[in-house]
Amino acid sequence: MSDKTTGLIHHPYVPPEGFAAPQPGVFKASTVIFPSVAAMRSREWKDKTGYTYGLHGTPTTYLLEERLCALEGGTQCVLVPSGLAAIANVGLALLQSGDEVLIPDNAYGPNKALAEGELKGWGITHQLYDAMDPQDLAHRIGPKTKLVWLEAAGSVTLEFPDLRELLRICRQAGVLTALDNTWGAGLAFNPFDLEHQGEGGLGVDISVHALTKYPSGGGDVLMGSVVTRDEKLHLRLKLTHMRLGLGVGANDVEAVLRSLPSLALRYAAHDRAARALARWCQSRPEFAQVLHPALPGSPGHEQWRALCGEAAGRAAGLFSVIFDARYSRAQVDAFCDALQLFKLGYSWGGPMSLVVPYELAGMRPAWPAHLARGSLVRFSAGLEAVEDLQADLAQALQAARA
Ligand SMILES: Cc1ncc(COP(=O)(O)O)c(C=O)c1O
Repeated sequence: MSDKTTGLIHHPYVPPEGFAAPQPGVFKASTVIFPSVAAMRSREWKDKTGYTYGLHGTPTTYLLEERLCALEGGTQCVLVPSGLAAIANVGLALLQSGDEVLIPDNAYGPNKALAEGELKGWGITHQLYDAMDPQDLAHRIGPKTKLVWLEAAGSVTLEFPDLRELLRICRQAGVLTALDNTWGAGLAFNPFDLEHQGEGGLGVDISVHALTKYPSGGGDVLMGSVVTRDEKLHLRLKLTHMRLGLGVGANDVEAVLRSLPSLALRYAAHDRAARALARWCQSRPEFAQVLHPALPGSPGHEQWRALCGEAAGRAAGLFSVIFDARYSRAQVDAFCDALQLFKLGYSWGGPMSLVVPYELAGMRPAWPAHLARGSLVRFSAGLEAVEDLQADLAQALQAARA
């Protein structure tokens, strides 16, 4: 070697195989090295038995994909840089000019914004349907409908739909279904087998997951996944994924892989905390309504019970409250500002409890009849001690009253 730099790049040492440890190694690559031109030419990028280019997969990304398939009950997965990118990957792969997509009226807001702000410009129309009225969905499905989004529970207002009935309607109409399964996290119910009948049972075609939330669990990673059970469908998603260049960083993948083993424990802890706090909120005169699908009387509680059962660990750590109408927006803002442990911040699923005040009037076409009128605040219960969180809510309520 004439120059030290060449020796630093082409050094003959290769780390030995056979090293075993609880956590997998992290493989990073944009470039993948081929042993020969023939190997380069014969390599099929879609095939998971080898490697072509960092964007198409590394041992680290394949490993996370396989674990997410195990979590959600699917067989194929693509990883994308955020939960919203996962939603976009689905729409861009499956919809063309002239098609229509149906979205629940209580869906994650940016899903609706994507349809309004991007898909519309490409000649793809959308309609919002009433997630709590399967007949409304049935009436809206037409010849142009190519995709129906589902979400359980709905974002912010947390109504739990009759997922099985919505799916039956879509199946009968021959329309593809995609579920935003971030709330269920692969733990509350099995998206590909809602009747526990095994292969071929009633299930969604696609499950999208914002790994940003519970699978990451740290509030420090943005990532999404799109899981399917259908090889052909997966290929359509993967081709779009490849053409859009939707890669994920190995360090972020490692963070999610490290958090996955504690996912079920954390989910159960978030669930316990949220239920305890939601029940406490129900006893408070400041609130006109508490929204949490595991609470009797909350919209969709019966559907939640039928699908997820009553055992602990079958609901996410989210709940919302609607303040009694006598509380002004300014008082509700003062309540949020007064919280010490619940931090003001979007997203959820991490160790720190979070709170967001929402303007429901701007989020829904009309105020839903099943929701009390008043200011809505959504909480994500973190992993702090429940008594501390409850005391925090109590002191902030006092501040709001003052
Ligand atoms: C239900 C739901 N789906 C998808 C997303 C998008 O995830 P990300 O923040 O990773 O884009 C979010 C984020 O808040 C969400 O709440």
